[in-house]
Amino acid sequence: MASVPSLASNVQQRLADALSAALPQAASADPLLRRSDRADFQANGILALAKRLKGNPRELAAQVVDAVGDDDVLADIEVSGPGFLNITLADRAITETLAARAADDRLGVPLADEPGRTVIDYAQPNVAKEMHVGHLRSAVIGDAMVRILEFTGEQVVRRHHIGDWGTQFGMLIQYLTEHPHELDHKESAGAGEAAGAEAMSNLDRLYKASRALFDSDEEFKARARDRVVALQAGDEETLALWQRFVDESKIYFYSVFEKLDMEIRDPDIVGESGYNDMLDETCRILEESGVAVRSEGALCVFFDDVKGPDGNPVPLIVRKSNGGYGYAATDLSAIRDRVQNLDATSLLYVVDARQSLHFKMVFETARRAGWLNDKVRAHQLAFGTVLGKDGKPFKTREGETVRLVDLLDEAIDRATAVVREKAGKVGLSEQEITGNGRHVGIGAVKYADLSTSAVRDYKFDLDQMVSLNGDTSVYLQYAYARIQSIKRKAGGRSPVAHPELELAPAERALGLHLDQFGEVLAEVAAGYEPHKLAAYLYQLASHLTTFYDQCHVLSEDNPAEVVENRLFLVDLTGRTLHQGMALLGIRTPERL
Ligand code: ARG
Repeated sequence: MASVPSLASNVQQRLADALSAALPQAASADPLLRRSDRADFQANGILALAKRLKGNPRELAAQVVDAVGDDDVLADIEVSGPGFLNITLADRAITETLAARAADDRLGVPLADEPGRTVIDYAQPNVAKEMHVGHLRSAVIGDAMVRILEFTGEQVVRRHHIGDWGTQFGMLIQYLTEHPHELDHKESAGAGEAAGAEAMSNLDRLYKASRALFDSDEEFKARARDRVVALQAGDEETLALWQRFVDESKIYFYSVFEKLDMEIRDPDIVGESGYNDMLDETCRILEESGVAVRSEGALCVFFDDVKGPDGNPVPLIVRKSNGGYGYAATDLSAIRDRVQNLDATSLLYVVDARQSLHFKMVFETARRAGWLNDKVRAHQLAFGTVLGKDGKPFKTREGETVRLVDLLDEAIDRATAVVREKAGKVGLSEQEITGNGRHVGIGAVKYADLSTSAVRDYKFDLDQMVSLNGDTSVYLQYAYARIQSIKRKAGGRSPVAHPELELAPAERALGLHLDQFGEVLAEVAAGYEPHKLAAYLYQLASHLTTFYDQCHVLSEDNPAEVVENRLFLVDLTGRTLHQGMALLGIRTPERL
């Protein structure tokens, strides 16, 4: 593994050196380097510096140019406008840097200087309930963040905080004791798709039946309430029945995650119930330290800036007046566990923006209690709502929440049709068509989610998602497949970098963009912003398209070195696309 400094950082360093040589009093000034249309880079920092030193910016800029002198990386540097510097790199420097990237498995992307340990809370559906598009977002964004953070060298601990506790289980369990065969499977239940569907339909039927009884039969209601008490008291028979609901739900969850092409591991599923043993102590600590106070029988935490419409403060309720614990007590206990037992330095929560007030209060409480501080930070990676084509929250025509599995199946169907249409030309077998259809369909759903900033709402529009043109995963997957096809057609000719060659404008643009991969990843990891990686990859594919238009790769008219060097660019683009898509959790089929 050899990390490769980017061309931008290399230029930045040379300019900073020239600045301090020319103007010792400006030693620490930032040259403010930007990519530019006029040249490869533009440096704007001299303007501010001249102001500070009360000098003439163009004169200062000229002095910096002199101080750069002859340089093997900065081929051309000139003063422009009021005192900018336009900088053009030597072709050799570009190709050599890219060759160093190509020689490295990680494409020269450095590991983080001081990796920490992030506990990431994502993919947290609820037991005995159907998964919906909100659960899709948490899973997709969370999975991408896990991959990205791990790639930068961060230690990542995954936690699936599933909703597996609460009073509704009293009703469900009581119903099951009275109808003991309701969760039986017709066939021996595996973990496959059919088993998942059967599990969910069992749970759904049971939920509806027990709900109906609960609402209509006072005696059943009373028995269900007693069950809640038994569950909370840890009664063994009751717990065993509760466990059946959890297990049944997991069969369903796993079938959905498998369809999403996502690895969820059993030990990482630590649901709300996993913190039961800590709840009493969490409350005791908060009360003894004065962070929480009793108010109307409940244990509460108050905040100056959280008030209801009537102007009265709205507290975080840690324990209800009837002694019951809710969502807040569990989340506060989970923070203690993650900080004290898992040694986290960062806590990341991939959760719906509609829960932002909850997390704001929970984090502030944890800070007051000293569980969070400058060394351990918590952040909610909040995501927006998935909207239908009409711009309203995504619902079926009957106004019900859309089942996630149905959506995914439809995406796969549409994608398979797109793949099939082109399959003849490429000569794909039926098996490849269905395999690719899955990767294209699931990729389309993931990419649509990941390519807009998480906090924004987005429209779930399958037509747009599987479109071959525009900012879609299909476009990127075709770019990758085209690269693979060129490599196959190259015959005996292989990708070899030739730094002595002059580069065409489209080659430079592609090369400079390829070189930014590591910097983009660092930014994406630091700001938890996968959409910036998606944007980078889309631009990469666009640069590739321009390059194809302007530069023939395998043409007979090209000298051998030109063919090899272009193959080298194409190959590095393919590897960068593949790596980038993999970090988003999206497959890149070899042939499409
Ligand atoms: N199960 C919750 C839901 O479906 C999300 C859990 C989020 N994580 C947490 N630590 N509260 O909305």
